[in-house]
Amino acid sequence: MIAKLDEIFKTFQNEIKNIEKMPDLMQLKSRYLGKTGELSGILKGLKDATPEERQSIGAKSNQFKRQMEDMVVDRIQEIELAQINESLEAKRIDISLRDSLLEKGMDKAGLHPVSTIQREIEDIFLNMGFEILDGPHIEDEYHNFEALNIPEDHPARDMQDTFWFEREGENRHLLRTHTSSIQVHGMKKHKPPFKFVGPGKVFRCERTDASHEMCFHQLEGMMVGENISVANLIYFMKTLLSEIFKKEVEVRLRPGFFPFVEPGFELDIRCLICGGDGCSVCKQSGWVELLPCGMVHPNVLKHGEVDTTKYNGFAFGLGLDRLVMMKYGIDDIRHLHGGDLRFVSQFANY
Ligand code: DAH
Repeated sequence: MIAKLDEIFKTFQNEIKNIEKMPDLMQLKSRYLGKTGELSGILKGLKDATPEERQSIGAKSNQFKRQMEDMVVDRIQEIELAQINESLEAKRIDISLRDSLLEKGMDKAGLHPVSTIQREIEDIFLNMGFEILDGPHIEDEYHNFEALNIPEDHPARDMQDTFWFEREGENRHLLRTHTSSIQVHGMKKHKPPFKFVGPGKVFRCERTDASHEMCFHQLEGMMVGENISVANLIYFMKTLLSEIFKKEVEVRLRPGFFPFVEPGFELDIRCLICGGDGCSVCKQSGWVELLPCGMVHPNVLKHGEVDTTKYNGFAFGLGLDRLVMMKYGIDDIRHLHGGDLRFVSQFANY
């Protein structure tokens, strides 16, 4: 019987080595170790053996059983590892493989046009002595509304459809609806005089169409000092626009309402597509609305701990996606963030 046991163990060892698949392994396990398996068969024969034989065969078969079970566990791990490696190999993404993109002429990487324009504008403002600030995407009601002179019951809160986080206490959290919240952080961080711009993503819970996206980009600007005037505001805005468009642009100011500025303006530029004759982009008016701005409301300065008897300032909010669309003649904002390589590869610049 001992010889038979040795024999069983040997063939088991040979068979398990060649097993590659989990079901085969399970089958082998039950064939040798199951209730009606080879080992049990041997043990059943024990009833006819002498007590000494019983003891030695029992001990031996137990030892083999444990070894065989361990071998099954090891083999399970090996098979699983092989399966993981196989699937990793199959799903491998070879990022150095550009042939298919090359064929389509989409082999060049580059910055997204919104990033490019953001960097250009940052440079323009850095050259004019502005600092660049960042602010969080997740804001609270205070920074997004209240400190900007938009109290709880103000209709301006309805103007912007907000993504709210679940209500928790008084000062609810939200995804910022505009970069104007960066003004509040900037004022708290600095003592006047100061000037900064704050670019970034903003979020609105809106139905999307050719000119609306739920996530888009703005660049906020703020300058606070002594005797700041509308003339200063116009100077900086004109400089900005002529640098962006690489030519002198004609601007006009119209009154515009925003709770955080008084007076508030809409700054329009002469349509660059038709030169002012009227076209579909400017809706035949010859002017394009581009830059809302104004003189900072004293309530906003107070929230920012600025001494309003001594200082005042201007602020503006530039829509970057709009600017990119104007600059490149893009007629649908959804192209910008649709992720279509055919679109973005047109802007590959290195
Ligand atoms: N925060 C405004 C918006 O998203 C834009 C804006 C208007 C910003 C006037 C300003 C400003 O700083 O002065 O619609």
